[in-house]
Amino acid sequence: MVAILGHESYFSCSAFKTSFYFLLPDFVFMIPKSFYRRIEGELTELEKSSLLRTVPEVDFGADKELVFKGKRLLNLASNDYLGLSKDQSLATAAIKAVEQYGCGSAASRLVTGNFRLYDELERELAAFKEQEDSMLFTSGYAANLAIMDSFAGRRTVVFSDKLNHASILDGIRMSGARQVRYRHNDIAHLKKRMEASKDADEKLLVTDTIFSMDGDLAYLEEIADLCDFYDTMLVVDEAHAEGVFGSGKGIAHERGLVRRVDLHMGAFSKGFGSLGGAVSGRKDLISYLRNKGRSFVFSTALSPAVIGANLAALRMVAEDPSRGDKLLHMSRDVKTYLESCGFDCGQSESQIIPVILGDNETALTARDRLIEAGIYAAAIRPPTVPEGTARLRLSLRADLTEVDLQKIKAAFGGLKAELEK
Ligand SMILES: Cc1ncc(COP(=O)(O)O)c(C=O)c1O
Repeated sequence: MVAILGHESYFSCSAFKTSFYFLLPDFVFMIPKSFYRRIEGELTELEKSSLLRTVPEVDFGADKELVFKGKRLLNLASNDYLGLSKDQSLATAAIKAVEQYGCGSAASRLVTGNFRLYDELERELAAFKEQEDSMLFTSGYAANLAIMDSFAGRRTVVFSDKLNHASILDGIRMSGARQVRYRHNDIAHLKKRMEASKDADEKLLVTDTIFSMDGDLAYLEEIADLCDFYDTMLVVDEAHAEGVFGSGKGIAHERGLVRRVDLHMGAFSKGFGSLGGAVSGRKDLISYLRNKGRSFVFSTALSPAVIGANLAALRMVAEDPSRGDKLLHMSRDVKTYLESCGFDCGQSESQIIPVILGDNETALTARDRLIEAGIYAAAIRPPTVPEGTARLRLSLRADLTEVDLQKIKAAFGGLKAELEK
């Protein structure tokens, strides 16, 4: 009966349909549809394999210290790498923007969602990134969807590192392009794949510059060389590098590759402590993106508060990029310590340090032990990371003090001893 009711053609008159539903006894709606059984089964399976995700009971989650189940913990799980999300100058700028423009932008940017501060932010971002133009998106996720959806299509081959962020993969899927994945950071493998597809109509390569679950860096010089050789558009995702590397501008800047990258994607949601995604590049490419990017065209513009905070964060980083250098220095010190204890931190070269533990249970146990020691670190499990590589993901932040660093080291020293019992 439920299936019949769901079939539109049985009731073409909507008035009849409404009154008919109204007359049905309540018990009809209590009959479980068959897909509920599948969903219940999948949830049970996830729970059994320690993979069921729930939102943690965290209060003040973006702060340096968060409150978890009533306990104050040092926060090593957020992406607020520079500690800007609670900075007073961002808050003041956000409030000023709200007072001037209100709370919502009320339409997509191309309709009436624009305001002067938006244009100012894009102009300043383009200058900061040393590009002709920049445009903002409601999130980094939306930015990656738009890039792929705009610049790739059925005639395009997209080369993508196996560990690229999910938003890139989703964008490629949406575009209908042929995806050619290469082994993580394996340049020889990439070259082979590019050679095999050299006659494709259009080619695009996309890579994270810092891989979000491993903290290692892409071999951008070698990738740029291959893209030049194989006439391939190069797109980089600097979401985790901005604010930290290259005077806050990212890895492409640090390595002197600004002109060899076609599109620079970034995010205000991480090092800049706020919200939103951004893409910078040549004027014509950005204009194309404004016309073709569906997540831009069909979505409400960011709110004035966010734009105000982003502008303040960008100015802070541009004026004083030293927070990023301090953070990287600290990260090297912590990684060296963890490795001296015998932990596997992979190839991390950034503020993201994985502590790879293997199975899901161990990762969850380790997370709980750290909580007892006053530290909150995320336990990351498949499918976010490959099977058998469940881990703690530490993201360090520039506002950690010497006392905090000692606390982290003592907690991991204790954890190692406990895991080896
Ligand atoms: C590499 C990378 N790109 C894009 C995104 C998406 O950014 P946002 O969180 O602003 O949507 C993330 C988010 O974690 C990311 O890690």
